[in-house]
Amino acid sequence: MDRNGQCWCGSGKKYKKCHLSFDEKMDSIKLDELKGHILPPRSIIKTQTDIEGIKKSAKINDAALDLVASRIKAGIDTETLNQLAHDYIVEQGGIPACLNYGGYPKSVCISINHVVCHGIPSKDTILREGDIVNVDITTTLDGYYADASRMFMIGKVSEEAEKLVKVARECMEKGIAAIQPWGYLGDIGAAVEQHAHANGYSVVVDLGGHGVGKKIHEEPFVPHVGKRGTGMLLVPGMVLTVEPMINIGGYEVYTDSEDDWTVYTEDDSLSAQWEHTILITETGVEILAK
Ligand code: MF3
Ligand code: CO
Ligand code: CO
Repeated sequence: MDRNGQCWCGSGKKYKKCHLSFDEKMDSIKLDELKGHILPPRSIIKTQTDIEGIKKSAKINDAALDLVASRIKAGIDTETLNQLAHDYIVEQGGIPACLNYGGYPKSVCISINHVVCHGIPSKDTILREGDIVNVDITTTLDGYYADASRMFMIGKVSEEAEKLVKVARECMEKGIAAIQPWGYLGDIGAAVEQHAHANGYSVVVDLGGHGVGKKIHEEPFVPHVGKRGTGMLLVPGMVLTVEPMINIGGYEVYTDSEDDWTVYTEDDSLSAQWEHTILITETGVEILAK
């Protein structure tokens, strides 16, 4: 690539002022074959334009979650919350990305108690005092995706449930805090797993986080278990979700055979999950959707 020509990332800057040092670093790592590094494909390295697009989408997504937060309470059915988020996202010019994704029938996922994820909202599902509820929303705006989820406690919940919700949030935070530019994907799972196990909980392995940007699910798959210093190299410009699903009982899960979506804990134990979309920067991490 011509040092004085335009950079491949589309920034409009000269290559030497933009991704030249990045590429040199990648090349030197590539030569370091003994370490067996897995390098991210260039296709998932975001440009400044991409990042701005994801941020705009994230703003709508965050506000949709805020709106749900303001209305969620005992007695409300989950379809009402689904419609609320759907209408808001559409009003803002976005698209609720889950609707019709792989045939998914609703605009958001609402997962209660022993439902791990992908709970389908319904008029017949009424929230009750004591429930712990995950609401997961993904928005597309101008082709850019943002993905986040939060837990809600309905009225007074058991001490056991409250602790799970708190620790699950800490697991996500510790996973994010473990991310460093030029670190490794396995650093995330190692941090999540350590905190979950220290509290006697287990971590779901069948589902994980993911790259996100121009598609809802991009490379890499982000495991929430793992070993430090292993897996794909994490480099500036990658956008990922960290979204650990933490169970009080075993890590095993199964999918509803009738609706083909709802994921439950195998042993019916409670499960909790929080999700942020994050950008890896030159110096650390920036949270894009929360
Ligand atoms: N928001 C989910 C995630 O975190 C994706 C749900 S896909 C759906 O990856 F089809 F189930 F909605
Ligand atoms: Co996600
Ligand atoms: Co999500």
